Amino acid sequence: MRIHVVDHPLVAHKLTTLRDERTDSPTFRRLADELVTLLAYEATRDVRTEQVDIRTPVTGTTGVRLARPRPLVVPILRAGLGMLEGLVRLLPTAEVGFMGMIRNEETLQASTYATRMPEDLSGRQVYVVDPMLATGGTLIAAIRELMKRGADDVTAICLLAAPEGVEAMERELAGKPVTVVTAALDERLNDQGYIVPGLGDAGDRMYGVV
Ligand code: URA
Repeated sequence: MRIHVVDHPLVAHKLTTLRDERTDSPTFRRLADELVTLLAYEATRDVRTEQVDIRTPVTGTTGVRLARPRPLVVPILRAGLGMLEGLVRLLPTAEVGFMGMIRNEETLQASTYATRMPEDLSGRQVYVVDPMLATGGTLIAAIRELMKRGADDVTAICLLAAPEGVEAMERELAGKPVTVVTAALDERLNDQGYIVPGLGDAGDRMYGVV
């Protein structure tokens, strides 16, 4: 497993406003969307391409296009939905699957309540989006499910990560072809499983408390 913390002033600027408790939901959603697009630029650095011959108005030349099978983007519901548009904007040929995962607030264990994805992900590059890598439980469970279906290259895009979550992923997914791309690696988790300093509950900040 590899982790890539994107070090860029625009990323840091947008993240600071996301963290600010005064930022309202519409602004939070817009910034999360913009931030994902910046993270996606880094996360897709190894997206597979194939060579194509084209003609410009001047001459024939060779270029590249995204290869088949098409990449799969998987937002983890609910908060990952707020990151979907920012990613598919850069990957217009991607297909989209969905995974509903819920975390038990006492045990902090993640379980799946819904999946909508191809059964066979052999040879697919998968981009899984979840804003907060906290304990890592949700992402580890999601990535295991993706690999069970044959995914051979998984990139997780997270707005924020906690060291505890990164360590859990390194332990549980050691040697697996998994990359985590994030805007920041924060200090720690608190007793309630929130990232510190973090940004609070990402789903609530995006969609309000329901
Ligand atoms: N999930 C969130 O939404 N926020 C955290 O800080 C941790 C998990």
